[in-house]
Amino acid sequence: MIAPLLLQVKAMKAAGNNVTTVLGARTKEFIMMEDEAKAMSDKVYIATDDGSKGYKGLDFLKDLLKKEKFDRCIVMGPVILMKDVSEITKPYGIPTIVTLTPIMIDGMGMCGVCRVTVDGKMMFGCVDGPEFDGHKTDFDQLILRQRTMLPEERLSSVLWEMSGGCKCGRNKA
Ligand code: FES
Repeated sequence: MIAPLLLQVKAMKAAGNNVTTVLGARTKEFIMMEDEAKAMSDKVYIATDDGSKGYKGLDFLKDLLKKEKFDRCIVMGPVILMKDVSEITKPYGIPTIVTLTPIMIDGMGMCGVCRVTVDGKMMFGCVDGPEFDGHKTDFDQLILRQRTMLPEERLSSVLWEMSGGCKCGRNKA
């Protein structure tokens, strides 16, 4: 979710803020738009799960928050990432906005599939969000709900592979 994050970076910078951007990914191959992030941000940090580029994991954020003052944190990406970052910023009292991507069906607030619990209240990701307070979001419940369709997703993936997979040729070795 680097592209939409950079739109936020651009807007924050245009409003006169000092902006630090952290780009994270599983491996260095998945780090995208680094040059664009550097052009828009005052500082850029890179982190990868395997340490193939930049910091290994997110622990460096704890040191960063001890050294520098931040007024706001905006997180986009996998739910587990948003949960982890929210837990890191909470002791520092840094308002943390997460962009939740629950499973959605109608996208109009009628089916209820996208519901998330925020501050003890049921909210709908599609109409009440997708941005919520990361310190008040029940991430554990959201993670469980995200896994609801895992058996069907796995079956669909197997059937797709059995049918020959992608026909565009980009994924062929
Ligand atoms: S997607 Fe149906 S209520 Fe949000």
